[in-house]
Amino acid sequence: MRFETERPTSWQACLTCGNELTETDPHSRCPVCGGLLEIHHRPPDLTRDELIGRFTERRGREPTAPPSGVWRFREIVLPGARQIVSHPEGNTPLLHRDALDRWTGVQRLLLKHEGHNPTGSFKDRGMTVGVTQAVRIGATAVACASTGNTSASLAAYASQAGLPALVLVPADGVALGKLAQSLAYGARTLLVRGDFDDCLRLVQEASDKLGVYLLNSINPFRLEGQKTIVLELLQQLGWTAPDWIVLPAGNLGNTAAFGKALREAHAWGLISQMPRLAAVQASGAAPFARSFAEGFARRHTVKADTVATAIRIGDPASYDRAVRAIRETNGVVMAVEDGEILEAKAAVDGCGVGCEPASAASVAGVRQLLRRGIMAPEEHAVAVLTGHILKDPEVLLRYHRETEPPPPGANRPIEIEPDLREVERALQETGKGER
Ligand code: F0G
Repeated sequence: MRFETERPTSWQACLTCGNELTETDPHSRCPVCGGLLEIHHRPPDLTRDELIGRFTERRGREPTAPPSGVWRFREIVLPGARQIVSHPEGNTPLLHRDALDRWTGVQRLLLKHEGHNPTGSFKDRGMTVGVTQAVRIGATAVACASTGNTSASLAAYASQAGLPALVLVPADGVALGKLAQSLAYGARTLLVRGDFDDCLRLVQEASDKLGVYLLNSINPFRLEGQKTIVLELLQQLGWTAPDWIVLPAGNLGNTAAFGKALREAHAWGLISQMPRLAAVQASGAAPFARSFAEGFARRHTVKADTVATAIRIGDPASYDRAVRAIRETNGVVMAVEDGEILEAKAAVDGCGVGCEPASAASVAGVRQLLRRGIMAPEEHAVAVLTGHILKDPEVLLRYHRETEPPPPGANRPIEIEPDLREVERALQETGKGER
């Protein structure tokens, strides 16, 4: 067919025979000749300037504004910085999914997805500031200990700055995607036969004795960058503070950074209400939760073990700063079991959002806060997803393909012969709601 009179706004046309179809025609190829289809649009009813004006308006900022979601807040991050090492980073979305409201029991849970950063975790926000500072002070090499994300981020930013990078990670227990990134971005990668706490001890010695600039979250400039997770989410909420901000906690750099961001935002009049922080640890790596339960009477260390390798940390470095953050925000610290983390992860993944295991601890934490009556369903909560789903493909595949008996959220792949009947059978089973 051909549209003889006025053309619709959009239509489909066959590249081979010119046959035209309506925009909603479901054929995947031309029904006349089998050729490939192409979408056509009527020219927009706007001038060039009007079009560009609309695109600029929707982008939400002037074209000349810095594209980084960290340096947008430079006056309260690092006002003195001139030569900035930026990917750019930040500008991460605030998401909502009905399925997670149902799973957690909160009326409207928002997710700040830091996995949308350039190397797939929130670490980029700290690293842009940390590496900018390294360049500023003339560092000749940079280093970190890491459970994987800090090292991936350091490797990328150091490479951008032209600085040699040394990363120390536990030989056993770094998620595949993270290790792959460190190697690919070109960091000298040391697989230490020990855990994260050993790596951190060693890299601190190395930075003291060998003169490399340390870029773990002990470094206060890193935390200045990580404050912008909170600043950006407050901006996205029109500077109305939520009741709760819930985050996974390992080495406690982020907990400390969030506390500082909120303290400053409140003191400088950006928000009038102080949200409560909830720091969520894995129960096999929960020294901070233990201290909290004792009113922070003493600092604990543990031999850490959890499926969430990012937060497999037994002696968190930013303990003192994080205690302050929890106290000043009337916050809570809690622990969730690995089973709860994996269930939360399946819920986050299954609604198309996806995150790495440690990130899901925050969503598991929200559900537990509700069940324990600490959070009310109508309270406004933001859970931070700290890393991307592809960081840890091994945990994912084990959960979906291998665990016996299959956990409730397991989505077993089905191997078939190249035969239509087998596809049909699989489709029918999908229709029955089987996963
Ligand atoms: N979530 C993810 C994905 C992480 O990688 C980390 C920490 C945390 C949460 C916890 O944040 O340490 O500030 O309390 N990862 C560090 C690393 C330790 O080396 O990548 P924290």
